[in-house]
Amino acid sequence: MLNIHDLRRDFTLKTLDKKELPDNPFEAFEQWFKEAIEAHVYEPSAMNLATVDASGRPSSRVVLLKELKDGGFVFFSNYDSRKGKQLASNRYCALNFVWHELERQVRIEGFAEKLSPEDSDKYFEVRPPKSKLGAWTSPQSEVIPDRIYLEKLYADFEEQFAGKSVPRPENWGGYLVHPELIEFWQGRSSRLHDRIQFRLENGIWTKERLAP
Ligand SMILES: Cc1cc2nc3c(=O)[nH]c(=O)nc-3n(C[C@H](O)[C@H](O)[C@H](O)COP(=O)(O)O)c2cc1C
Repeated sequence: MLNIHDLRRDFTLKTLDKKELPDNPFEAFEQWFKEAIEAHVYEPSAMNLATVDASGRPSSRVVLLKELKDGGFVFFSNYDSRKGKQLASNRYCALNFVWHELERQVRIEGFAEKLSPEDSDKYFEVRPPKSKLGAWTSPQSEVIPDRIYLEKLYADFEEQFAGKSVPRPENWGGYLVHPELIEFWQGRSSRLHDRIQFRLENGIWTKERLAP
């Protein structure tokens, strides 16, 4: 039997003081993101995206941060996917980064809007050719009969676009998450963690410490 309750770790790597973080939360995020890259965190761009459906039921999945833009966080996906449908009915969402190697977490809450088709095109153009075909192939979040079905679709699109440039499917593109709350969490000893939160109110960010 696995003894899960004995798996525990005391966090002692770093501390976080309110004064250490810039007053602008994007600058603070950029600073932490840079540090995550420098620390060779495994998949520093991976973030959990939580959405809710029309009846208020939450669901979450991991997506990749692809850009910091206009004070927001950009990821790409299929607009007809489960998350896409949920964001169409309720644009409010939450993002969560966990960088275990630094004993850090960043929580973001806000709302998502679709990127312009031109901006989505720009990113699609620089994707590897196989990923471009993958975007055409996957009816993301739909039930499919088996793996062969997917591979057959991929082969069909490969044939259809042979020797041509692969355009962006209309139902695939980016979202920009506009934050209204950003929290920086640094693990500390004895569960007395440091939490510094930025809250947006009437266009002004307030920086405050939260109890762990
Ligand atoms: C490390 C990692 C990165 C991922 N990146 C993306 C991504 O950028 N976009 C995306 O649509 N799905 C990504 N996925 C897959 C999603 O987690 C999810 O399976 C998919 O988007 C379908 O979610 P949905 O059915 O809730 O819409 C990633 C998964 C992992 C584990």
